[in-house]
Amino acid sequence: MSSLSLSKIVFVLSVVSVMVTSSAAAPKPYELVDNICRQLGNEQFCLNVLKSDPRSKYAKDITTLTTIAVDMATKNISATRDYFVSVKNGPPALLKSLEGCIGSYNTVISELMNCLKEEDCSLISYDIHDAGDEVKRCQAMADSNGAHDSFITTSNNVTLDYCGLGESLANLMCNKNGD
Ligand SMILES: *[C@@H]1O[C@H](CO)[C@@H](O)[C@H](O)[C@H]1NC(C)=O
Ligand SMILES: *[C@@H]1O[C@H](CO)[C@@H](O)[C@H](O)[C@H]1NC(C)=O
Repeated sequence: MSSLSLSKIVFVLSVVSVMVTSSAAAPKPYELVDNICRQLGNEQFCLNVLKSDPRSKYAKDITTLTTIAVDMATKNISATRDYFVSVKNGPPALLKSLEGCIGSYNTVISELMNCLKEEDCSLISYDIHDAGDEVKRCQAMADSNGAHDSFITTSNNVTLDYCGLGESLANLMCNKNGD
């Protein structure tokens, strides 16, 4: 064997070994998302929300996932609030409930938009928890007005899912256990 072909073989082997090493080290898509969502109660919802944002694909830290969840929550809840505002006709119990719920949703949206600015990490999940309480206040108004069987309840359930996901992720991010 000539020394030239030997050096070729050595070269090829070293290329192969670099490829094997780097493919073993390459992050798997959604590795963190799958791992974290598996730990949360609402796994399918968690997967749907986080995977709908491309930043989650190779996310390396929970901060990224919490940011995505809060962003997605803010978008969805703002769209729901806009829908509430757009409804002008319906049973009086519904219209009366919407009036109160729009105020609650405005509070929820501003809590979500500001929570990630907290300097104290533990206040983030606290803010999101407060937002969830505000949704429950809207639900209590709908219940007492007799609008329980309306789209308000359906919307509140989705909104509470978003708040629950954000709160759980914020707790993990700040190294706390749930409530
Ligand atoms: C909010 O998200 C839910 C579930 O992900 C979806 O079914 C719903 O259509 C969204 N609502 C709005 C107003 O975008
Ligand atoms: C909303 O959530 C409550 C509590 O989990 C549940 O009992 C109810 O069936 C849900 N309603 C709708 C319309 O999704």
